[in-house]
Amino acid sequence: MLHPQQHTTAFIKEGTLMPMLRSFKLFISSLGFLALLYACSTTQVTPTVEQDPAVVGIDTAVHFFTPAGEDVVVLPGAYEVYAEKGGLRLIAEEGTSAETLLIEATPTDHKQTVDHPMAVTLTNKKNNQVIILLLPNGKGWETWGSRSGVHSRAAKRPHVPEAEVTRQLNIKNQRRALQTQLILSSASVTYKGSRRPYNGSKSKHTWQLPINDTIGSGTFTFAWAGFWEKSARQPSLIPNKITAIQEIVKKKHCCIKLMIDGKETPLHRVSFGKGGTLRTRVKLTKARAKTWPKTIKLTLIKGKNRWESPTTKIYADTISYYTSVLHPIFSHERCTTCHMLGDRQAIVAMHEDRLGAGNYPDVEEAKPHNPEFCGSCHNIPSGSSHTSMDLQNEWFSPDHVQGINWKGWSPSRVCQKVTGPFTDKNGNVGSAVDLTHHFHDDPRILWAVSSGWVPFNRPDLAVPLKNKLHRWFSKVDPWVAAGAPCPSKSKFFQRARRTVPGKFFPRR
Ligand code: HEC
Ligand code: HEC
Repeated sequence: MLHPQQHTTAFIKEGTLMPMLRSFKLFISSLGFLALLYACSTTQVTPTVEQDPAVVGIDTAVHFFTPAGEDVVVLPGAYEVYAEKGGLRLIAEEGTSAETLLIEATPTDHKQTVDHPMAVTLTNKKNNQVIILLLPNGKGWETWGSRSGVHSRAAKRPHVPEAEVTRQLNIKNQRRALQTQLILSSASVTYKGSRRPYNGSKSKHTWQLPINDTIGSGTFTFAWAGFWEKSARQPSLIPNKITAIQEIVKKKHCCIKLMIDGKETPLHRVSFGKGGTLRTRVKLTKARAKTWPKTIKLTLIKGKNRWESPTTKIYADTISYYTSVLHPIFSHERCTTCHMLGDRQAIVAMHEDRLGAGNYPDVEEAKPHNPEFCGSCHNIPSGSSHTSMDLQNEWFSPDHVQGINWKGWSPSRVCQKVTGPFTDKNGNVGSAVDLTHHFHDDPRILWAVSSGWVPFNRPDLAVPLKNKLHRWFSKVDPWVAAGAPCPSKSKFFQRARRTVPGKFFPRR
């Protein structure tokens, strides 16, 4: 849908804190970056700007302190910024109004002329991100965050130079003043193996696109429509009605340029779409959720004609790969049944339920972590079709104390547990182990995923991927390679996690 009041102006490109620049090289690169910004950023004059709140765009997770001194993480997104007793209030633009956070800030003065509150943000090479709220009366608020999370509340802050604030403000205003004719009207992505496209959405100032946190490659379609000015009866143009643009669509390599994060990206397909929009399709390979937000911009140049879009920022609305692909397996009863056998009582009860009362030895040895005993039955006979799976001395259940009886847990909780520190059978919280190794080599997991063989010639139990271990590997490997990302509870704010997440489970 077209919205008459487009302003990517709300997104502040990060600048660089000049006095903190140590190296000349960095200085040059930041100049180049700015030059690019001036050249590319274009947007529409918005007459109603006064009513807009100050908005700041956060591009990577930044740690801040709350007024109470708690370390909190603000995740990528656009935030409205308000001064409040005790600090700055951030309200996630795309969230519900409940998604807000108060962060610690200090009062400051400024010499900028602003007729309504404006927010700018700057970063320096020390991984600090500063947000400054400028009020019309020359007063303001300043807060320092850290991208690395290594920060202290007591640190002495250098004063952010007025010139730098001016520069950031200029960039913001400049972008607002530039006129453009094309505007992003829809965005979607399709991942390999599924034909279903995920559609992006726009609300207020921000575009969001569902992006996978594990799969990097996808086909992205961006559709462009004419800009619709608020007072106008019709859009500035309808792409498929314009001869020069029709010619461009016929010969896609000519005259059309899609810039993603300032880099020209080869177009896979150019066509006309719904409502006469111009559809551009690109294949991206390194586009996991972590790599967003990205900016996109379209330019068409044909003879004397030139059409372009503003530089438009798109945030990831993260799709959790763990939740959609792996959790159905992790929560399968082949996994959860063994994981619930945390004591003798549970082990005996499960077997008696299956085999009939009295058909299972209720003895002291029937306990977790006792492969010798369990193996007396759970031993795949040689010569069977399951011999490739060696359960010798590997068939046993985990003790309750290990806290992995995860039946009914949320995907987020199971994921945090599995990627977090491992608790051994004695309750000792241990260190990191290699995930790939265990997903590939642990015979209990391989049994539960693809075999389901049980003793006494009873029929195999149902498993998620019968005899298809390669499919298990192809599901789990990309996730481990992507750093085993877990679904996060909030898309906007998080409490900083102090524990260093270990990998899971040692070989015993
Ligand atoms: C035969 C019993 C059994 C089955 C079946 C089983 N597990 Fe386990 N699992 C265990 C035991 C025992 C441990 C603890 C190992 C240890 O203490 O060395 C464990 C530990 C784990 C851990 C490590 C947990 C942590 O705290 O880091 C993961 C992950 C795991 N299992 C996943 C699975 C998945 C996924 C399945 C199903 C595909 C599965 N398991 C099926 C017995 C089983
Ligand atoms: C006396 C033989 C015997 C012993 C000893 C034995 N089991 Fe079993 N177990 C069985 C049989 C038979 C089944 C298959 C039940 C069925 O058909 O549902 C089974 C099934 C299982 C299952 C699969 C349950 C499911 O739904 O996924 C697990 C897990 C299991 N046993 C764990 C253990 C553990 C742990 C021990 C050692 C403490 C153990 N068993 C000792 C006979 C035994």
